[in-house]
Amino acid sequence: MAIRNIVKEGDPILNKVCRPVEKFDEKLGALLDDMYETMKDGDGVGLAGPQVGILRRVFVIDIGDGRLEFVNPKIIKTKGEQEGSEGCLSCPGEFGITIRPMFVTVEAQNRYGDQFTLNAEGLLAKAVCHENDHLDGILFKQHVIRKATPEELGIPDKVK
Ligand code: CO
Repeated sequence: MAIRNIVKEGDPILNKVCRPVEKFDEKLGALLDDMYETMKDGDGVGLAGPQVGILRRVFVIDIGDGRLEFVNPKIIKTKGEQEGSEGCLSCPGEFGITIRPMFVTVEAQNRYGDQFTLNAEGLLAKAVCHENDHLDGILFKQHVIRKATPEELGIPDKVK
């Protein structure tokens, strides 16, 4: 595994629409491994292909419950609403309040091409929406309704 360079806001690669993955090979496995390591190194909960310069429909998520990999994902259902803070490894130091669905159902393939369906709720639902947006060239800022205060971000007093 290797830590890859994270593409930052301002790079046009983040505004492009990604193509589907067609080959479920070792290269895809290596990409997903690298993306996971890069995400963990950056203290993120999700990372999408374009953020490491790969315009393919892949993202990884770990909200603390373990590693999830999504290849060619499709959000097929959303329900409810949640308002909360959001940031992005491609926009360091910037946080905002967004409104996202509380529940999402996503269909995707794993690294071997097997299809699965996941029902996500809360933070996981938010992460799936955020990462899926990256695959269509959309950054979280397009969903921001206002800036997040330090209290909303849960930052301890000493580092405010
Ligand atoms: Co992001």
